[in-house]
Amino acid sequence: MDGNGRWAKQRHRPRTFGHRAGQKAVRAIIEACLRRGIEALTLFAFSSENWQRPKDEVGALMELFLKALDREVGELHGHGVRIRFIGELAAFAPALRERMLAAMDKTTGNTKLALNIAVNYGGRWDIAQAARQVAQAAVRGEIDATRIDEAQLGSHFALADLPPLDLFIRTGGEKRVSNFLLWQLAYAELVFSDALWPDFDADHLDAAIADFAARERRYGKTSAQVSSAYSGAH
Ligand code: IPE
Ligand code: MG
Repeated sequence: MDGNGRWAKQRHRPRTFGHRAGQKAVRAIIEACLRRGIEALTLFAFSSENWQRPKDEVGALMELFLKALDREVGELHGHGVRIRFIGELAAFAPALRERMLAAMDKTTGNTKLALNIAVNYGGRWDIAQAARQVAQAAVRGEIDATRIDEAQLGSHFALADLPPLDLFIRTGGEKRVSNFLLWQLAYAELVFSDALWPDFDADHLDAAIADFAARERRYGKTSAQVSSAYSGAH
């Protein structure tokens, strides 16, 4: 979700004004995903690099997260949303962390939409923490280190239980992945939108989904193979 700052600047307002507008866009997109029966939505809300922003902007973002949690969790729960925060949560203030954990606890049994909010998250962090877990299992003698493969490492990622990632959308015109779900992006379709995040609405989402639906996903095979009904046969 990129472009909050520029959206505010266009209106001669402080960056936090853009972040507040960005929150409204988040609400609208979650609703749109619920209506469309989308199984999982992962939002990159705060990267491990965002701590480097000016102190007052980081503080304002934390305040917004806190208020949003208090305000939105009950309603999301009512809609059957399972909320998960992914990232290094230990870095957050206890009050915020407790609310994150409470939201995850409360909604853990929900199945309508898996809503994942990446905070203090980095794709490299996710790979490193998965590697740490398999290394520890090997040291304990539970697994054979020489047999660690993609599936085994993959089972330790933050969203390992979810289906493969289909569609990645970055708003704000930049054509970068910026350390989001690096491993999971291997075969995702990438859509880059020039819309600034606060302007990104259900119509933009539908356009991205239409773009996605028109693509041929070959997973390394030929076009003839994937268009044939027998492409799965060996
Ligand atoms: C939102 O957009 C991303 C967050 C970290 C909340 P930005 O704050 O990066 O907006 P721009 O890129 O300055 O326009
Ligand atoms: Mg930005």
